[in-house]
Amino acid sequence: MTDPLALFDEWFAEARTAEINDPEAMSLATVGSDGQPSVRMVLMKGHGPEGFVFYTNEQSAKGEQLRDNPRAGLLFHWKSLRRQVRVEGPVERVPGGDADAYFASRGRDSQIGAWASDQSRTLDSRGTFEARFEGVERKFDGQDIPRPPHWGGYRVVPERIEFWSDRPHRLHERRLFTREGDSWRAGLLYP
Ligand SMILES: Cc1cc2nc3c(=O)[nH]c(=O)nc-3n(C[C@H](O)[C@H](O)[C@H](O)COP(=O)(O)O)c2cc1C
Repeated sequence: MTDPLALFDEWFAEARTAEINDPEAMSLATVGSDGQPSVRMVLMKGHGPEGFVFYTNEQSAKGEQLRDNPRAGLLFHWKSLRRQVRVEGPVERVPGGDADAYFASRGRDSQIGAWASDQSRTLDSRGTFEARFEGVERKFDGQDIPRPPHWGGYRVVPERIEFWSDRPHRLHERRLFTREGDSWRAGLLYP
């Protein structure tokens, strides 16, 4: 196969049937202006040749790092299939209309949470967060909840995609696709 996105679709479809939960969970690695790498899980909410999309609070630690250095690494590890996929490239903001549509599809409590959470900021007690949650709930009582201005999506545009699969005796297979203009160069890596 010469199209890594088609191969990703194939592997992701298998992961959806094999993984007990969250096959769309991916590690997101970012590096801010201090050079310190940081990694956390997010959920992939869209993917294709244009990139791999996730949503978050833009004022979070990851949001600040992406503002300073708009590049990221993603890692999917599908344990039950003994496979990983690594994606690297620049990061773009998802258009506001797409973020609005995804936000509107979330459950009401998740929408309230997005307003109530100062993601990545210090919290003095769980009670403070619960009180903020209830405050937002009251504020929007009986109304649709709009997307918070600080909440949106990012798209990691793939420049490199590597597919790793387990083989006996640690003779694993690594297939690397590197973007060259509108096409992809395919090769292998030693395990
Ligand atoms: C399986 C899983 C999926 C997650 N998905 C998201 C997500 O899509 N967006 C998000 O902001 N945080 C998500 N989180 C929480 C993040 O891992 C992280 O705690 C949070 O975004 C704050 O990260 P930061 O302080 O580095 O910005 C998820 C956590 C787990 C374990």
